[in-house]
Amino acid sequence: MGGLETRGLVFTGPRRRLEIEGLELDPPGEGEVLVRMLASGVCHSDLHVVDGEWERPSDVVLGHEGAAIVEALGPGVQGLRENDLVVLAWTAPCEACRACRRNQPWLCTQPLGDGHRLKEEDVRLRRPDGTPIGAYSGIGTFGERQVVAASAAIPVDPNTPPEIAALIGCGVTTGIGAVVNTAGVRAGESVVVIGLGGVGLSAVMGATLAEARTIVALDTNQAKLELARQAGVTDATTDPAEVDALTDGGADHVIEAIGLTSTVEMAIDLVRPGGTVTLVGMTPQGERASFDVYRLVEEGKQIRGSNYGSATPAVDFPRIARLYADGRLPLDLLVTETIGLEDVNRALGALRRGDGARRVVVY
Ligand SMILES: NC(=O)c1ccc[n+]([C@@H]2O[C@H](COP(=O)([O-])OP(=O)(O)OC[C@H]3O[C@@H](n4cnc5c(N)ncnc54)[C@H](O)[C@@H]3O)[C@@H](O)[C@H]2O)c1
Ligand SMILES: [Zn+2]
Ligand SMILES: [Zn+2]
Repeated sequence: MGGLETRGLVFTGPRRRLEIEGLELDPPGEGEVLVRMLASGVCHSDLHVVDGEWERPSDVVLGHEGAAIVEALGPGVQGLRENDLVVLAWTAPCEACRACRRNQPWLCTQPLGDGHRLKEEDVRLRRPDGTPIGAYSGIGTFGERQVVAASAAIPVDPNTPPEIAALIGCGVTTGIGAVVNTAGVRAGESVVVIGLGGVGLSAVMGATLAEARTIVALDTNQAKLELARQAGVTDATTDPAEVDALTDGGADHVIEAIGLTSTVEMAIDLVRPGGTVTLVGMTPQGERASFDVYRLVEEGKQIRGSNYGSATPAVDFPRIARLYADGRLPLDLLVTETIGLEDVNRALGALRRGDGARRVVVY
């Protein structure tokens, strides 16, 4: 075999502990790069997979929110150099499908690394016995090294701390992008954010960037309200009944960042007539929410889905890193704890309980 030796945290099926395994990695092929992971956040989307709420193939190195150093370039790679600090995108656009041709890479239907690198021609990782192992979303950031599509590796300011760069790879871009790109919040508007995990707190920061006048944060966990205050909200509460008064009869925008049908339905109630609900949180697959059609139509409310913050990673990742460097985004408050790869199962347990913002593996 003779591949490069590495280690990764492998998902072997729903509701099973992730286990660290020794693995072998191929060298980068055409259009690919070998990266050494520096940091990876633990996002609730990892938990959806582990808890069996999203159907995903097993025998895959999990993790999709990471930052890395480029160690080697495959043939034909342009725009990257060895030792670049890169944020890894969980959608590397194909640049050929209809969405990509519309400049909506977050909706790409055939992203590189699709199928989690388990298609025969795509496999780059193997167990010592030769069994193929995938890389979640083509990047598998709970692996010490990975071979990824060059277009998934986005260079950012090399002074960005690795744990911050990692969070830009999912939660931060998702939350900020939902507010700025998908919802299109404008200066002076009011915004309610429901759910204050890594994604929701980032949405709060997006609302401050957009110069929203009123930003109300809602979570059942008291400790999260304090974090939201540090992130710049005008009010934070555990009681949805307070929101109407705090937003003068309904918010211009409501952002749902949990993924529960009950809070999705609540979001539709909390937005003012003519306002916009932006759904970011993701439920278990197949769940349906309901709303009063007559009222929604009469009140001219809008509902939007936001995937990956409607962001273009190659543009938005470096932009967000620059805003952080300029002191305009307090992303440090998202890092509750830095941990090792062996602590990820514990970090998933904390996410289940709504405890803390982000736990970040630092390699
Ligand atoms: N759309 C996308 O592209 C995208 C990207 C990343 C994550 N997500 C999804 O966004 C969601 C949030 O991710 P996260 O990592 O921030 O999760 P998280 O678990 O860190 O945060 C969820 C927050 O919701 C709070 N909460 C739970 N139940 C509540 C309730 N009934 N009322 C009020 N607050 C409640 C928790 O206390 C916690 O603070 C997940 O569903 C995740 O899969 C979507
Ligand atoms: Zn994520
Ligand atoms: Zn595409």
